[in-house]
Amino acid sequence: MNIKHFLQFNDLNKDEIEHIFERAAWIKSQFKGYKKYWPLEDRTLVMIFEKASTRTRLSFEAGMHQLGGAAIYLNTRDSQLGRGEPVEDAAQVISRMSDVVMIRTFEQSIIERFAANSRVPVINGLTNEYHPCQILADIFTYIEHRGAIEGKTVAWIGDANNMSYTWLQAADLLGFKLNISTPPNYALDPALANLDSKALTVFEDPMDAAKGADLLTTDVWTSMGFEAENEERRKEFADWQVDDEMLKVAKADALFMHCLPAHRGEEVTADVIDGDNSVVWDEAENRLHVQKALMEYLLLGKVES
Ligand code: CP
Ligand code: NVA
Repeated sequence: MNIKHFLQFNDLNKDEIEHIFERAAWIKSQFKGYKKYWPLEDRTLVMIFEKASTRTRLSFEAGMHQLGGAAIYLNTRDSQLGRGEPVEDAAQVISRMSDVVMIRTFEQSIIERFAANSRVPVINGLTNEYHPCQILADIFTYIEHRGAIEGKTVAWIGDANNMSYTWLQAADLLGFKLNISTPPNYALDPALANLDSKALTVFEDPMDAAKGADLLTTDVWTSMGFEAENEERRKEFADWQVDDEMLKVAKADALFMHCLPAHRGEEVTADVIDGDNSVVWDEAENRLHVQKALMEYLLLGKVES
């Protein structure tokens, strides 16, 4: 069976990503014009969450309804997955009763094992390693505000986490530059990041990473699943805060993005996230539109606009 999954950003090629952006723009315009578009009537999305979520759950659930389909929410705590049913068995069963599955979980290997046993497309709704749907929304948002991202510079300030690894895959695929600055003990893991990538420049000083950037972006100091390191991280990340001073060294029209939820006063100041350069609400909304385009593509292939 030739099923297309979206487990990592680079599971899709440049042409497919561009197609999804084109469709997302069209689907968004239909939605904004209150026009019904039901290409996935009678289709069912199953969403499996092992970690908390607001945006991902809401955008997938609302998105599937808006495309004419239905969405079912499963939480591992109250499904048999939480009582040790093998992921492979769950995949066999769940994929016989649904048309597409979205999973938010811990290790990437869990979602890979699920996909290997699934009869339907599987979408990564965040793992410890990657958050590809978020980066789709972020780049779509950049393009909406500033045009093509190719050749531009994105500065990632903070943790080497699922977001940063996905940004790197996107930079390689779509041809933009990625400046990364992390605290010394939280550097990129070479098992997950291609440190030889031509797109990547690593900076010790976050101010150097931000210099001349077209887009400044960051994320929480402690991602879900790493809460035990919270206190240590608070100390080590203190200088990796996006503030006005950092914004000033970026391009004058630089955008600020954050996947949310944010901690004002930690990774970003209120001045920046609530300021004129910030597009975080558009970024959050665009999860809805790009994921509708993604589900359309995974289930129906290339629909012409
Ligand atoms: N950005 C994001 O994935 O948000 P949630 O954790 O609320 O889904
Ligand atoms: N890096 C964060 C993103 C949350 C949407 C986490 O994994 O918790």
